[in-house]
Amino acid sequence: MLKLTLNGYELAYERRGKGTPLLLVHGFPLDHTIWEPLLPLLEDQFDLVLPDLRGFGWSGRPASQYSLRDMSADLLALLEHLEIENALVAGHSMGGYIAMDMERAFPRRILGLGLVATQPAADSAERKASRAQEAMAVIADGVAGTAERMAGILTSDPDLQKNLKSLILRQDPGGVAGALLAMADRDDSTELLSHLDLPVVIIHGLQDAIIPVEKARQMNAMLKQGALVTLEGAGHMPMMESPRECAEALLTLLH
Ligand code: MLT
Repeated sequence: MLKLTLNGYELAYERRGKGTPLLLVHGFPLDHTIWEPLLPLLEDQFDLVLPDLRGFGWSGRPASQYSLRDMSADLLALLEHLEIENALVAGHSMGGYIAMDMERAFPRRILGLGLVATQPAADSAERKASRAQEAMAVIADGVAGTAERMAGILTSDPDLQKNLKSLILRQDPGGVAGALLAMADRDDSTELLSHLDLPVVIIHGLQDAIIPVEKARQMNAMLKQGALVTLEGAGHMPMMESPRECAEALLTLLH
């Protein structure tokens, strides 16, 4: 892994391929390795940048609480470090919340968006409360409960469930709790979507048990330059469940 030192912690990332810069932002509570099945399908066309968000994978994190905007700022710092002026950004679920936030915060840097298994709305009051509760449980008892709860709903593929469970089990409880609180506090991006003037591709599994495909259809209806790709047989992890279709959809951002 490559590392960039930020304010007292390191941001880990991989870089692969050649072409138009494409930042691939993983979801919760995962790391950059979820994108691995896509890399051979994309590396001839894209300069792929795969960060581990702060608190996940091989990245460190600050001791005090942070926001999704802070995570966006880490990714802008990474692009600057790599001397990438403009990039396409594809985000998975929480990574999609961050991709939309990057567009809000640094619009001139973003060439287009891939929104994978994500949604624009902020959390309801109930969801904020349940995230806060889960964050406390993760700090007290570790990530095993989250791994158990999520592995079964991320996908219906039993082998993939096993892999995802071990991926979640190796995450830092402080990072998982930090992301839960950051997601609870995120801005709503619904308004942003209707004003976007750049290419967007939405990729969503028809069997997504975490964010129903209806949310993707609603997002698509708001976009001026949007395309929606729905995937039969895929749940919340289309880049692992349907890598070929997912790669084809991301390639459309080049045209
Ligand atoms: C994710 O997959 O990143 C999260 O489940 C999204 C969320 O909890 O809102």
